[in-house]
Amino acid sequence: MKVAVIGATGMVGDVMLKVLAERNFPLTELLLVASERSVGKKMTFKGNEYTVIGLADAVAARPNIAIFSAGGDTSLKWAPKFAEVGTTVVDNSSAWRMDPTKKLVVPEINAHELTAEDKIIANPNCSTIQLVMALHPLHKKYKMKRVVVSTYQSVSGTGVKAVKQLENEIAGVQGEMAYPYPIGRNALPHCDVFLENGYTKEEMKLAREPQKILDDRTFSVSATAVRIPTAGGHSESVNVEFENDFELNEVRKLLNEMPGVTVQDNPDTNTYPMPIYAHDKDEVFVGRIRRDETQRNTLNMWIVADNLRKGAATNAVQISEYLVEKGLV
Ligand SMILES: NC(=O)c1ccc[n+]([C@@H]2O[C@H](COP(=O)([O-])OP(=O)(O)OC[C@H]3O[C@@H](n4cnc5c(N)ncnc54)[C@H](OP(=O)(O)O)[C@@H]3O)[C@@H](O)[C@H]2O)c1
Repeated sequence: MKVAVIGATGMVGDVMLKVLAERNFPLTELLLVASERSVGKKMTFKGNEYTVIGLADAVAARPNIAIFSAGGDTSLKWAPKFAEVGTTVVDNSSAWRMDPTKKLVVPEINAHELTAEDKIIANPNCSTIQLVMALHPLHKKYKMKRVVVSTYQSVSGTGVKAVKQLENEIAGVQGEMAYPYPIGRNALPHCDVFLENGYTKEEMKLAREPQKILDDRTFSVSATAVRIPTAGGHSESVNVEFENDFELNEVRKLLNEMPGVTVQDNPDTNTYPMPIYAHDKDEVFVGRIRRDETQRNTLNMWIVADNLRKGAATNAVQISEYLVEKGLV
């Protein structure tokens, strides 16, 4: 199993290598790929040294799987070139997610849709993944009508440049800005670019991707995405209106039974999910589970996950594992 990691020098790439090593992914050859700026750079994986190569050399090597985390433009240009030589691409960017000919996959929910013909597979947006992991078991049981989500997203979700901006601000050093404003001691209601409808692209990803993953257009999602000065881990305040009524104990049970979800919910002991504790974990944590007392059949909850893990690398590696297990690559 020859695997190429595209964007190996980035924030997601770094965690991707960690997750591949931890899970002992059955690879026999590893290609570390980045931009021309990084070609020749040395990196280590499981104690062995590797030299970073460029995209053209990686295509020529015809890997079985190429996991892309190198931005949408790189994916749009290069994923089809890999697919042409028979490589299956698992893409972390937003390039292919809403393409009707491409699958958008969270393995615990819809990996069964994958076939050997799927040569470009999209990994959902980080804030979408943690949202649908919690919504899926509840939707199956109570049928969602409408979801209102507000996110509190970490700077690591923007990439290395944003992490550096926060570090510079804390150290009182002038440096390159990833955001139009300071992020330290601030909250920016602005994740990704603004669109003509007044929403940001991140907000529209949250509105559209869950319908595709859950294969249901009958519910709607309204989102506000906010960047806050946490280093890693995205949090979400979520209000869900269902067709049918629910019992809170059953909601907790359904969430706990969902593979990859852990309930942390006990006000008596101040137990609730927080980004510092979700750091470096693969699970999606759910807490503050309570009835919305202002509206029928409506639930409030708080969802936290490590955006670089389940929100990106872990999900992509799980997709790759499924492809290997099912003999689809
Ligand atoms: N951060 C998150 O939480 C998160 C979550 C889900 C998905 N994603 C997606 O994952 C991707 C990477 O995000 P990131 O946060 O890791 O960004 P990052 O830290 O800025 O890293 C970007 C990576 O892409 C490489 N790259 C950039 N331009 C390239 C080109 N023209 N050809 C080949 N490689 C190129 C960079 O290589 P050099 O080092 O050589 O520049 C680097 O390895 C993005 O598409 C992002 O939307 C991120």
